[in-house]
Amino acid sequence: MNIVVVGKGGREHALAKKLKESPLVTDLWVCPGNPGMKEGGLTCAPVESPEAIEKFCLEKNVSLVVIGPEAFILSDLKERLEEKGIYCFAPSPKAAELESSKLFCKGVLKAAQVPTAKCAVAYSAEVALRSVREHDFAEPLVVKADGLAAGKGVWVCDSLAKAEEAVRVLGTQFGFPLLLEECLLGQELSAFALCDGEDFVVLGTACDYKRITPDPFSANTGGMGAYSPCEFMNPEDEAALHSIFSKTLRYLNSQNIPYQGFLFAGLMKTAKGLYVLEYNVRMGDPETQALMPRLKTDLAKLIVAAVTHELKNQRCELSSEKAVHVVAVSQGYPQTPMLLGSPISYPALSTLKNQIYFAGVSEKQNHLINTGGRVLGVTAVAPTRHEARALAYQDLKKISFEGMYYREDIAE
Ligand SMILES: Nc1ncnc2c1ncn2[C@@H]1O[C@H](COP(=O)(O)OP(=O)(O)O)[C@@H](O)[C@H]1O
Ligand SMILES: [Mg+2]
Repeated sequence: MNIVVVGKGGREHALAKKLKESPLVTDLWVCPGNPGMKEGGLTCAPVESPEAIEKFCLEKNVSLVVIGPEAFILSDLKERLEEKGIYCFAPSPKAAELESSKLFCKGVLKAAQVPTAKCAVAYSAEVALRSVREHDFAEPLVVKADGLAAGKGVWVCDSLAKAEEAVRVLGTQFGFPLLLEECLLGQELSAFALCDGEDFVVLGTACDYKRITPDPFSANTGGMGAYSPCEFMNPEDEAALHSIFSKTLRYLNSQNIPYQGFLFAGLMKTAKGLYVLEYNVRMGDPETQALMPRLKTDLAKLIVAAVTHELKNQRCELSSEKAVHVVAVSQGYPQTPMLLGSPISYPALSTLKNQIYFAGVSEKQNHLINTGGRVLGVTAVAPTRHEARALAYQDLKKISFEGMYYREDIAE
């Protein structure tokens, strides 16, 4: 079987590498991929638009396409491919509203009776400000924009003044409605399922680091690192997680919105158990880079079972080892990445015990250079998180480029 993975980041590097291990896969291309992936033995094809990807798949006799980034999930790529008889593992644009509308997501969670924060919806500044003023701020209030906001649409407000500002800023930037949510206290984690429309397998859990420095008020990023599994899930939580995915899929199905694809639950483990903060309709970056190396089950086999609606009796086995992934970024990220275009020095990949996943890189005179905010990341796997962490940092220290920065406290 020939496969295409769509995307060009570290997440797609990890997915493609895992898929390539499968005996079911003959040829695999990452479209468009990046030159770092080529160093790692993958094949990339410089096709980027849905039209060009469709044409490429027909030329190369590709029978399965796996989409990484959300932009392509929201495009007409899946529809185009399926019209040509090519399987595409991704949710439909309607099902993808689970991520692109927090209001839609909340509606699904409530109707499916999945635990989630209480929430009021305000369609105007006036109504939002009135609700905000009724809150007593013994607990913070969470103000959220409805639509996609690139990580800038959620304010956790511990005072009335802050909440009023959130209403003004978010209302102006992203418009109404706004969601006013109860603040959940606890430990945050991400969980991933692979879904076929009706059934699913849980791929595992991870914890990620969103801030640029350990300061919880520092700038929000795409993600500076992650580890897998999250270590505070007990058997009761595992059962609750199963029920969360199961109820969500069953409800969506009952509404004629079968969900096929990766499903990413952002969760809070509270004193009362697991609550869903949000769903994303894709794998997480960088959680995927921590999760994939632990996956023992053939990923291509699972995805083929998903697109043919045969996931029911499939299982997913993960290594009991722990994985730690640390991301290296360009100086100035996330505001204004600087010193781009400088050569990246790294040891021969075959000499490294750990895996480098490349993201914001390109090629100049046969040399990799940094061209983006998040440049690359290293994943190490070991019997304990502390060993994995030490190994990941050991290899990261052998890599350098001008202005390279990474957090020192991932998985501490
Ligand atoms: N109800 C809530 N209670 C406590 N924290 C929350 C709540 N909702 C969101 N958060 C915090 O805000 C972050 C971003 O919210 P999320 O709903 O994941 O939106 P997005 O990822 O689209 O920005 C979460 O990772 C979490 O830390
Ligand atoms: Mg989130």
